[in-house]
Amino acid sequence: MSDKPKPQRYASWTAGKLPLPELREMKKRGEKIVMVTAYDAPSARLADAAGVDLILVGDSSGMVVHGRESTVAVSLDEIVFMTQWVTRGARRPLVVADMPFGSYEVSDEQAVTNAVRLVKEGGADAVKLERGGTSVSRARAVAAAGVPVMGHVGLTPQTATVLGGFKAQGRTAERAQQLVDEALALEEAGCFAVVLEAVPSEVARAVTQALSVPTIGIGAGGDTDGQVLVWHDMLGFYEGNAPRFVKRYADLGAVITEALGRYAEEVRSGAFPEQQHTYAMPDEELAAFDAVRPPTRRR
Ligand code: KIV
Repeated sequence: MSDKPKPQRYASWTAGKLPLPELREMKKRGEKIVMVTAYDAPSARLADAAGVDLILVGDSSGMVVHGRESTVAVSLDEIVFMTQWVTRGARRPLVVADMPFGSYEVSDEQAVTNAVRLVKEGGADAVKLERGGTSVSRARAVAAAGVPVMGHVGLTPQTATVLGGFKAQGRTAERAQQLVDEALALEEAGCFAVVLEAVPSEVARAVTQALSVPTIGIGAGGDTDGQVLVWHDMLGFYEGNAPRFVKRYADLGAVITEALGRYAEEVRSGAFPEQQHTYAMPDEELAAFDAVRPPTRRR
């Protein structure tokens, strides 16, 4: 037998990747799914190292990274670029790219074209779109085109104006039932998972029991199949009040401000850079340099 390594028949980009069907198995086993947003390669690398299962390149980037008031203005190009960065940092986690507002509302064809762009150009493993209603048809078309798609119901930030602002959904029996129906319709359309945002835990539990695909909650209590948080919220990069569902796991904003303050102080005092941060020349080269340079430039 030859010792020559066998040629790799399949591209290695799938090597080590969490297989998408495994998410349904995790739900069956009662194993929680961990998802976090990320918008660049170093963050994705850290999320991967921490054992996160899914990374969402969320259009929340419009607010937490780019300083906008809402997610509405985020463009498809922005999500494509950020997905490229994130996929360079993430090996095991599945990368889900958010379809921004305006990239799937017009028609099923528009949704498929743009979902394919996120996969082909961005390198996404899957896409996510918001709402029930016409989004059910879009999800069906995207899934039928071979792109794994995740639904998102409850508080849907892209259409927050219609919902009366950024507030919890499903607090009446009628609206709660509507959310269950929307989630079921998204599953039936082919979604591999559904995000539930800002809904009472009883409603999230009902949806989770009704679906055979996993639910991923954000502000939906502890009975969903997984949880997602926004990077900047959970790591303490925001000022002011975060939504009540955010748990801050670190205060990196304060850590960074303190480090930058020390840097500024040391630059101003001359304490930075020190000898170890500077390059040296061999003595003979320095002597030759000193011999040739004009006297006016000598110190
Ligand atoms: O854009 C985003 O980060 C999201 C999460 C809040 C689920 O959609």
